[in-house]
Amino acid sequence: MISDNTIQEIKERIDIVEVVGDFVDLKKSGSSYKALSPFTSEKTPSFFVSPSKQIFKCFSTGKGGDAIEFLKEVESMSYVEALKYLAEKYGIEIDEVDSYSPQNTEKESLYIITSKSNEFFIKNLESQDGQNFAKTYLDHRGFSSDMIKEFGIGYSSKDWNSLFNYLTENGYEEDLIEKAGLIIKKNNKKYDRFRNRLMFPIHNLSGKVIAFGARQIKEDKKQPKYINSPETNLYVKSDVLYGLYQSKNDIRKEDKCILVEGYTDVISLYQIGIKNVVSSSGTSLTNNQIKLISRYTKNITILFDGDDAGLSASLRGMNLILENDLNVKIVSLPENEDPDSLSKKLDESKFKEFLKSRETDLINYKVKILNENYKNDPVKKSDMIFDIVKSISKIPNSIKRSVFIKETSNSLNINENSLITEMNKLLINKNTQKPNKILKEINDNENKIEINNVINHHERECVRMLVNYGKSDFEILGLDRKSFIEYFLREIEDVDFTNKSYIKIIKTFKEEFQQNNIIDINHFLSEKYNDIKNDVIDLSTSKYEISSKWKEKFNIHVTDESDSLKKTTYNNILRLKFRLIKKMINDNLKNLGSDSETYSEEEVINTHNKLKSAEMEIAKQLGNVTSI
Ligand code: CTP
Ligand code: MN
Repeated sequence: MISDNTIQEIKERIDIVEVVGDFVDLKKSGSSYKALSPFTSEKTPSFFVSPSKQIFKCFSTGKGGDAIEFLKEVESMSYVEALKYLAEKYGIEIDEVDSYSPQNTEKESLYIITSKSNEFFIKNLESQDGQNFAKTYLDHRGFSSDMIKEFGIGYSSKDWNSLFNYLTENGYEEDLIEKAGLIIKKNNKKYDRFRNRLMFPIHNLSGKVIAFGARQIKEDKKQPKYINSPETNLYVKSDVLYGLYQSKNDIRKEDKCILVEGYTDVISLYQIGIKNVVSSSGTSLTNNQIKLISRYTKNITILFDGDDAGLSASLRGMNLILENDLNVKIVSLPENEDPDSLSKKLDESKFKEFLKSRETDLINYKVKILNENYKNDPVKKSDMIFDIVKSISKIPNSIKRSVFIKETSNSLNINENSLITEMNKLLINKNTQKPNKILKEINDNENKIEINNVINHHERECVRMLVNYGKSDFEILGLDRKSFIEYFLREIEDVDFTNKSYIKIIKTFKEEFQQNNIIDINHFLSEKYNDIKNDVIDLSTSKYEISSKWKEKFNIHVTDESDSLKKTTYNNILRLKFRLIKKMINDNLKNLGSDSETYSEEEVINTHNKLKSAEMEIAKQLGNVTSI
């Protein structure tokens, strides 16, 4: 259990921009930050972080909340995991001896077991055997102690059960050790999965060990060179990139991610100072891995071995990257070289020069292969052209597509229009299979606007002022200094809101105010308000940055709203009252000429006149303020 004091301390230290920024590429936008949602593969940013309110909001999935909520969503952490992660990030000590207990969730226990195992392997490397067998090998490969430390490299001993014994002696259950992928059970016998190997821990984005890659030390053709952890509750291969935890900040800084094949390639490049590097660890690149990279950069350079296997893997990867609307370049390495071997010959700046001079985009790369090999073979040539057009057709961005088509047409000397025709055929086929996502997004937005009728919109605007500025102080229209909340509550006293969430939000503000508490958005983040929490967060983040249509349609003034707070609030409440009165006038007039006995004609007309004069009164005032 983490003490309340520690929790309080953690919460005070959290800066949501820093926390989210470790996972998402945030761009400043007005007083908040925005980014592409980490939860979807969207093209237009709809993910917002507000530093002043310390919350995030993802408009495409509806997710929102504070920094802890974010960690829970993005890394599937539990509440406790999120707190521990933040404590570590901010260097806050948690007074906890051993957090291993049966009450922990299974996932948490697995994290503890993998991390304990990693510690065990690291200690092993220091042992006599570790030094003799593993450290000598690492030295021979040229891996520095700094890199061994940075990547947590360890050694698994020759014994059949040393890890298993160590873990059970420390109280970890056999069942969980097996679930962590660390032992193998066969014919009633169990033994350590990794023996006599170099251990490369694989980390998740928050730096926790989730799996291992284990390399043989002495070449033995009868054994696989690498043995990897199986998929576990913690480790889903297709969602993980080796080295990303260490390299993510440099990927963002360089605005580029270098993709290599193996563990050793990552470490070697990192060692010479090329730190923006990750590996898909021998498996073909997946959509999820590309999405992971896209949180930090849009630019990927693939650096694969020059052999055929490396080439076809990289071509497949490139198509997938293009489909995900990222920019991809390829660098083909000289024969018999891999990034690891090259890093021994080139220093950082030479390596960078090398990359720069060799980087080619996919289309030019294919054009080059075609020109070099198939120029005089019409069948192969047309196959290859079709293949190029197919790659281009996968790019979601139409401007990029036309640029590539033009380039291909120029360098292969083929009529641009016939390339376009071919591409369009492919595009049409694609679009009949999948409804155009962009069109769908537009329709969704239109619908939202239609559904939100005008009154609901004005109600929203009023409550939005309350949620955002409830704590402010200001002078109202020449009166004494008053708190916003007091003014607001008095002004809306005679207004019946229709939206259930808004009614509850206002009621909460009111009740708390009567107890002398002026609350803000944080008050609504507790469990108690789960039914309206999302509405409050919605209200506290401004969506207008995305939709200029909204601005026009409802004539919303958002610029410097907080500067002209009293005017804006006054204006919003008046607008709501105005609309409500208009509705009352219509409802009242429906009683005219009806058979209903409830109202006499005279009553209806009386009411009508009263409402009309109220309407005119408000219209006059609105006329005064709308020009502000
Ligand atoms: N790999 C694997 N299982 C194998 C061989 C390879 O999982 N039997 C994966 C590993 O992730 C490895 C990557 O494929 O890192 C690339 O393979 P390879 O180039 O053979 O290994 P390197 O990492 O380059 O290792 P080394 O430099 O020591 O040869
Ligand atoms: Mn290799």
